Amino acid sequence: MTDPAQPVSQAQARMDAYEQQQRAIEKRAGQIRHIVLVMSGKGGVGKSTVAVQLAWSLAMSGQKVGLLDADLHGPSDALMTGTEGTRMSTKDGLMQPVSASGGLKVVSMAMLLEDPDTPTIWRGPLRAGLLRQFIADVDWGTLDWLIVDLPPGTGDEPLTIAQSFPDADGVLIVTTPQKVSQQDCRKAINFAHAVKLPVLGVIENMSGFVCPHCGEHTAILQEGGGQQMAEQMQVPFLGSLPLAPEIALLGDEGKPVEGGDVPDTVSEPFARMVDAIVHRVEETEEQDA
Ligand SMILES: Nc1ncnc2c1ncn2[C@@H]1O[C@H](COP(=O)(O)OP(=O)(O)O)[C@@H](O)[C@H]1O
Ligand SMILES: [Mg+2]
Repeated sequence: MTDPAQPVSQAQARMDAYEQQQRAIEKRAGQIRHIVLVMSGKGGVGKSTVAVQLAWSLAMSGQKVGLLDADLHGPSDALMTGTEGTRMSTKDGLMQPVSASGGLKVVSMAMLLEDPDTPTIWRGPLRAGLLRQFIADVDWGTLDWLIVDLPPGTGDEPLTIAQSFPDADGVLIVTTPQKVSQQDCRKAINFAHAVKLPVLGVIENMSGFVCPHCGEHTAILQEGGGQQMAEQMQVPFLGSLPLAPEIALLGDEGKPVEGGDVPDTVSEPFARMVDAIVHRVEETEEQDA
């Protein structure tokens, strides 16, 4: 027992604040049905594209969906959801997520910055602190899904998120077909094993290009590497997405692929990917029950 006559030490006060925040995190997590973490070993392989489009597709099917951009150094989700330039407001002491089309709730570092070109020059503990605030101090409400878009690699942010959501449904690994990406993704898979989160599966992005003029199929960055890696690491393979100019354009324009002006060669693989992820989440839920 603390002696009421003694001033509470600063360390104790910090500990109390941390525990209070931990309880707030657990309360928020308890109001979210499914939590999916999107990871990869490398940057630029399409994590944000997959996270944003998955979140949007689920939201457009009428579900309540949040998208947490946990990439504090390279936040892309505001731009990719058409919410760039909108700042988060505060109500009753809680940050309010920004609403994208389809009712998707987005939270990103970009929504705290005055200028999107300002770099975040923060060491690990500060980044971990902000991510915890992005869970504890955001008015997420009840959600069917929270999709977390992680920065590349297996550093502070994935660890903070994994520790904040020990009961998350699992981790989705995004890779391009090349060996150089697979190698780093194997580390991301082993990270998920180490923090005891299920690996939902692997998505191979930028897998093949269909020429819009002649229809010829070219494996620009090779093909099949994601599936091979999934087999080797004994985790499910959940499908591939083609390399397509429409995907890059819609990303830059902040628009959803679903319902967008895209050929079937693009919309169908996206729809199959979303179905495979939802199916896999339901499957792991049944296994746990
Ligand atoms: N399948 C694809 N076809 C074309 N461009 C893509 C594809 N996937 C991603 N991109 C583009 O590549 C860039 C990097 O993708 P992004 O999702 O930001 O990767 P990450 O989050 O892994 O760094 C973005 O401009 C995005 O629009
Ligand atoms: Mg990204």
